[in-house]
Amino acid sequence: MDHLWWQTGVVYQIYPRSFQDSTGNGIGDLPGVISRLDYVEELGVDAVWISPFFTSPMADFGYDVADYCDVDPLFGTLEDAERLIEEAHERGLKVLVDLVPNHCSSEHPWFVEARASRSAPRRDWFVWRDPAPDGGPPNNWLSVFGGPSWTLDETTGQYYRHSFLKEQPDLDWRNPAVIEALQDVLRFWMDRGVDGFRLDAVMLGGKDLLERDNPPAHSGSAHKAMGAWDAQEHVYDLGDPFILEVFAGFRKVVDSYVAKQDLADQVAAVIPPDRVLIGEVHQFDLEEWATYYGGAGGAAGAGDGAAGGAAGAGGAAGLHMPFNFGLFKTPWTAEGVREHVETIERVTRDRGWPNYVLGNHDEPRLTDRLGEDSDRLAAMLLLTLRGTPTLYYGDEIGMEQGEIPPEQQIDPWGLNVAPELGRDGCRTPMQWNSGPHAGFSTAKPWLPVHDNRAFRNVAVQLDEPNSLLNLYRRLLKLRQKHQALHRGSFRSVDSGNDNCFSFLREAPDAPGHFKRMFVALNFGDEVIHVVTPGPCRVLLWSHAPGEDLNLVEMLRLGPKEGAIAVVFG
Ligand code: NOJ
Repeated sequence: MDHLWWQTGVVYQIYPRSFQDSTGNGIGDLPGVISRLDYVEELGVDAVWISPFFTSPMADFGYDVADYCDVDPLFGTLEDAERLIEEAHERGLKVLVDLVPNHCSSEHPWFVEARASRSAPRRDWFVWRDPAPDGGPPNNWLSVFGGPSWTLDETTGQYYRHSFLKEQPDLDWRNPAVIEALQDVLRFWMDRGVDGFRLDAVMLGGKDLLERDNPPAHSGSAHKAMGAWDAQEHVYDLGDPFILEVFAGFRKVVDSYVAKQDLADQVAAVIPPDRVLIGEVHQFDLEEWATYYGGAGGAAGAGDGAAGGAAGAGGAAGLHMPFNFGLFKTPWTAEGVREHVETIERVTRDRGWPNYVLGNHDEPRLTDRLGEDSDRLAAMLLLTLRGTPTLYYGDEIGMEQGEIPPEQQIDPWGLNVAPELGRDGCRTPMQWNSGPHAGFSTAKPWLPVHDNRAFRNVAVQLDEPNSLLNLYRRLLKLRQKHQALHRGSFRSVDSGNDNCFSFLREAPDAPGHFKRMFVALNFGDEVIHVVTPGPCRVLLWSHAPGEDLNLVEMLRLGPKEGAIAVVFG
């Protein structure tokens, strides 16, 4: 079977509050996104994932949904969402929306109804418990955003559970009616043409049936400090295996949609389903992580990557891809990254298609995490590995973490737990040009634009042949053009240098394409010389525009420099 778009393509994440404001209120919106689709298309990505734009009181900037099937007026209308999907498709871009299934807003009619009385019809869509004998919460579980994950509802005298803010009550995933309602949401958006979903915080849906207390922490399992939450080992409040059944149910719904729904019956046998489910899974034990693909041993995009169909004999199909956040935790060295990539190759072999993430709306900006001198190396790594890359808006121009003064911080995580956990800095407005508010808005933006906007912006970098943005554009085009890069196999190559991570991407059965690509990445601060696996011609250097026409058998790489070369023979 051939590969599907979500395997060969690159996903670009748009945080809609921060991409483009079209109304002059300082907040980005869907018509704003539409107006920038030409940019996205020309960048060379294949799909956009848009963070939540649904009706919301915005306690967590849209991750508190009050209506899954409508658009918040701040972002536009349902018609705008439909137009966005249509206009993206016209440009050959797929659209992923962000479904938040673990919790909704306390203003969602489901919760408003549920909290009205103990006998309310949707009471059991949420998790209500009597107080412990001392009147306190029923167990010791903590909210990621600070304090207990239980809040006492005075009206009915019971606690309700929330993994995040008290304004984000947890839906009860053990209730089949809830799962059905969420599946209807998937259908609603697929009927409007969306090509897939990013599923928010899915591990937290899996709470222990007996609701046992978490033990005290003995190891840090997350990739960064999480404040008071780190005091516990999160064995009972997330990741219970029953969620695999929930994913299997979601997967069935998504896989029942084929390219042209009206022809579903006729074409189902010949056209594989091609909508995708990508889950936000923070599991750094990668063997465990891989179980989220669903049953092992089958054809779920296994091995060298056939189309992601049903999982094999080992069990039901799960997520098409659990996000792999491993690079957030991996030491930024040749050895660290090689080890991570080889582990991902190993654990996904019989499971599914790999993927890599280097930035998103919850993490400090890539440039700040890795250092500006690693921007180009990071771009080349992300876009040459085997697996789907996700690129966060603004990383392609090297946007830096905004420095938000404490009195201007608005992210609830930072406000409730610790300022250093605040995510405002990675959500500042996209920097389009050197004009007022960086071309993002005509009014004062909801978060301050970074001071470096005069030179770190799209317009300036488009004009500069060797800019980071032009490197991304070249990398994306090269990846799109060559099968070896977007679907070929992966094999590490020992370059004989500790600071160099080098590998081969091969697609021997791709007529008319280069069959072997050699990628060499120097993570060190010294110049190195790398012997190539045969006569090579460099197609792209990370630090200089243009190809090299010479045939070489040795590459000279400067500090933090990388190269992609075609290997002959
Ligand atoms: C994960 C999302 O990425 C984050 O932004 C959000 O705050 C939480 N889930 C809660 O929905």
